[in-house]
Amino acid sequence: MIRILSEMVLTGAVLLGSGPLSVVEAESMKAICQLKATQGNQVKGFVKFTKKKNSVMVWAHVEGLTPGKHGLHIHECGDCSAPDGSSAKGHFNPGKHQHGGPGAKERHAGDLGNLNANSKGVAEYVRSDKTIHMTGEDSILGKAVIIHEKVDDYKTQPTGNAGARIACGVIVNKKNFRKEE
Ligand code: CU
Ligand code: ZN
Repeated sequence: MIRILSEMVLTGAVLLGSGPLSVVEAESMKAICQLKATQGNQVKGFVKFTKKKNSVMVWAHVEGLTPGKHGLHIHECGDCSAPDGSSAKGHFNPGKHQHGGPGAKERHAGDLGNLNANSKGVAEYVRSDKTIHMTGEDSILGKAVIIHEKVDDYKTQPTGNAGARIACGVIVNKKNFRKEE
C-alpha cells in the first residue's frame, strides 16, 4: 500500500512537471546563423532568431561592412558552398509573393530589409517579424541568410537590386549549433 501511494505521488509530480516545462521550451526556441564572408570579402557576424508567441525576434550583429545599407535576406537554400553565395538560390518565398520591404504587406518571407553599418562598418539589427516562422512547413530553419553588397531598394523584382552576396550562413536550431572559426 505504501509502495502504491508513493508511485501515485511520483506519477503526479511527473505529470505536473511536464506541462509547464514544455511550454517554456516552446516559447524559448532559438536559432542561430553564423555568417561567413564569400570570396573576396571580410564580413562576419551572427543572426539570432527567437520564437515568440506571434512573432520571431531577429537580432543581427555584423562587422566588416562598408558604411551604409546592405540588403539582408533569408534565401531558400541552406547552401553556402558556392564562393559567391549563389548556391543559396533566390529569396525564401513560400507564399509566392512579390519582393518588398520588411514592413510591406507584399513581401517574400525572406525580405528582412537592410542592415545599416556605421562608420566602423559595424551593423546592429533588431526586428520583431510576424511573417517568418520557426516551425512548420514554412520554417526558416535550414535556410540561408545572405548579406548583400548594396542597399535593397524594396522595389526591384525579384531581388531588390542589392548586388553581390558578401556573406552567407545557414540557420540552425541553437541546440545543434557549433561555432566555426
Ligand atoms: Cu538576398
Ligand atoms: Zn525578396
